[in-house]
Amino acid sequence: MSFLVTGIGELVTNDPSTPGAISEELCPGALGVVRDAAVAVEEGRIAWVGPAAQAPAADWRVDLEGRAVVPGFVDSHAHLVFAGDRSAEFAARMTGTPYDGGGIAVSVAATRAASDDELRRLLVRRVDEMRAQGSTTIEVKSGYGLTVADEVRALRLAREVTDEVTFLGAHVVPAEFADDRAAYVDLVTGEMLAACAPLARWIDVFCEPHSAHAFDEQESRAILLAGRAAGLELRVHGNQLGHGPGVALAVELGAASVDHCTYLSDADIDALAGSATGDDGTVATLLPGVEFSTRSPYPDARRLLDAGVAVALASDCNPGTCYSSSMPLAMALAVREMGLTPAEALSAATLGSARSLRRDDIGRVTVGARADLTALEAPSYLHLAYRPGVPIARALDLGA
Ligand code: NIG
Ligand code: FE
Repeated sequence: MSFLVTGIGELVTNDPSTPGAISEELCPGALGVVRDAAVAVEEGRIAWVGPAAQAPAADWRVDLEGRAVVPGFVDSHAHLVFAGDRSAEFAARMTGTPYDGGGIAVSVAATRAASDDELRRLLVRRVDEMRAQGSTTIEVKSGYGLTVADEVRALRLAREVTDEVTFLGAHVVPAEFADDRAAYVDLVTGEMLAACAPLARWIDVFCEPHSAHAFDEQESRAILLAGRAAGLELRVHGNQLGHGPGVALAVELGAASVDHCTYLSDADIDALAGSATGDDGTVATLLPGVEFSTRSPYPDARRLLDAGVAVALASDCNPGTCYSSSMPLAMALAVREMGLTPAEALSAATLGSARSLRRDDIGRVTVGARADLTALEAPSYLHLAYRPGVPIARALDLGA
């Protein structure tokens, strides 16, 4: 079965070599924008891209009547397997209580108490919510179970909705181990890792000395190295609550991504820029919804891009620091608060986040890539940042 998606007023491909691609001030060459474009799709993959007037024949045609199309958003950081909510914690934060990670225990208790069916229902609802806002790849972390059985359960559920599954047993030290942190690190790197590694692609750790609940540099290093030895690839939560060792550790160990990067030193930026030269470098994943929902300062993304750092954007959808599943919101905030152009924000939310997952089959509209297309109820990608809070993006369902 072949599809032709046509009538695309403005197509962003992220590939400057696409036939018909233009280079203009608001559509810089790197975006690979084609006007009046079409995309042919066969068996879930892109078979042809170019000006609609030159499009091949197909079994089915979908006419988008002038709408813009962009690569499906790659949400490379999300915590979706949880029950309960923490709206009261949010309300307290808005009147001055700072975030310190202690509220994660509330989500852990609610998640442990939920049935498999209830957790699955909540997870599927959140994934549907994300697709309805244009995300076509979603990374999903565990981290609200924190027992062997509960982490295994979270990963099994995550695997039902995505291939990008991350073991985050090292989210916080659970209350029952508060007096013996070393015993919890032993569990995470031992029995829990052995049970979880076959179910995940990635291992992540909340490396944050500014939180009494999270992990310091030495603990984080031990956890990441054990994960790597078990066959997992590395991601790090780092530099969220203050300056700290997370970014340096991620770069040193060759993690695919270090996420948050709210507080960065000059040395952190140099390290990230140095690692961005190869395909296996460390991407700085920015999560502006977190700064928004925790009333924290935004990192200077402009400075990162100017230094040559590879930058990604993700939602960090989670019950504590950002209960928003919206990649368009993340892009709008990156433009308004972090100094990115609309083109840079879209690139970070597609190509950049694909790179943070070490994927080259997503985040671009090129022949052979997955047919992950997001249509906008708008004539141009510029509207993603220009119309914040308006649901203009939706993932196209091409039956793939
Ligand atoms: O990415 N920082 C650690 N983990 C999450 C928050 C988890 C929570 O508060 O429930 C984050 O911000
Ligand atoms: Fe997170």
